[in-house]
Amino acid sequence: MKNTFGVSVSVTLFGESHGAEIGAVIDGLAPGIEIDEAFIASQLSLRRPSGRISTQRKESDPFRIVSGVFEGKTTGTPIAIIIPNADQKSKDYAKTRFLVRPGHADYTAYCKYHGFEDYRGGGHFSGRITAALVAAGAVCISALKQKGIFIGTHIARLASISDSPFSADIKSDITALCEKEFALINSSLEEPMKAAVTAAANEGDSVGGILETAVYGMPAGVGEPWFDSVESLLSHALFSIPAVKGIDFSSAFDKIDLKGSEYNDPFCIENGKVVTRTNNNGGINGGITNGMPIIFRLAIKPTPSIYKKQDTVDISSNENATLQIEGRHDPAIIHRARVVVDSVTALTLCDILAQRYGTDWLGGK
Ligand SMILES: Cc1cc2nc3c(=O)[nH]c(=O)nc-3n(C[C@H](O)[C@H](O)[C@H](O)COP(=O)(O)O)c2cc1C
Repeated sequence: MKNTFGVSVSVTLFGESHGAEIGAVIDGLAPGIEIDEAFIASQLSLRRPSGRISTQRKESDPFRIVSGVFEGKTTGTPIAIIIPNADQKSKDYAKTRFLVRPGHADYTAYCKYHGFEDYRGGGHFSGRITAALVAAGAVCISALKQKGIFIGTHIARLASISDSPFSADIKSDITALCEKEFALINSSLEEPMKAAVTAAANEGDSVGGILETAVYGMPAGVGEPWFDSVESLLSHALFSIPAVKGIDFSSAFDKIDLKGSEYNDPFCIENGKVVTRTNNNGGINGGITNGMPIIFRLAIKPTPSIYKKQDTVDISSNENATLQIEGRHDPAIIHRARVVVDSVTALTLCDILAQRYGTDWLGGK
């Protein structure tokens, strides 16, 4: 399924950056889930560009839910959410139509779609399409909250500046992060991080970073042992987010020099429940949740569209060329991508949970 992800709960994405509308269809979600339109709008506002460190494209995202919801609750049939595009400046892209942007999907899209692709603003590959993911994800985030499952992401690193790690009280960290526009555990780093992005933008350049996500409240015993492990499905879905280039669970790449005696998470009983004293396995053993928070980090690359001159090729003449990009772009993606990550995580976990407990479970039946 080319633009669809999920088995029991699936999401299909459609649209192009400079087309009339973008959207998502969620299928298989339980009947009876309350739809909080104000929450969907607030999630969209967290993804929306704002300030000097984002693209200057202005989108108000007046979404419409056109099916699958009746009297404020899901009906169990496909939910289609449509978001109109606005503020396109398509002519910015006409001049450089055949000068493929290094790091972007222009060349690979051309190879796959033979020039029939809508190239304007990255077309179907644009970060703009993630607005539809956020709207769909907001429905799933609300459904998971009803089940005591909470998701939060922070900007763990941006332009070489590192945020504080999650504390022992991950649930409170998640609650605090979800209310922040610039998602840091240590908010005093917001200004230095923004200054570093602005400095790169002033040079016509861009920066990347690391997002770290925690999921609190996942029950133990969910997932499959081999190909559909929780790690596999989350990785599959999260790599769909444009600009994601790496993932590890519970900072595994940093911890890999630990001995087994240090890496293992000792079990103990706390308030009558099996827990682990540490969480180096990120809440997953053998592909199956162990009831501890799921923790993962994503490497978000620097925005490919930069204003510095770059070497490229002209795919119409097959010659070397120089590219001077026009159009409006994010000098950093990470602060906007964080809510996309929460959304994709929620969509994936709803699918995994519905496979384990049945479709109706998320609706409370
Ligand atoms: C929220 C968000 C906003 C983005 N904004 C831009 C942008 O303004 N300019 C750009 O070149 N890429 C932007 N990207 C990244 C590109 O869409 C992405 O790098 C490109 O599609 C190639 O995919 P890949 O990096 O996964 O290989 C954005 C990504 C996200 C998630």
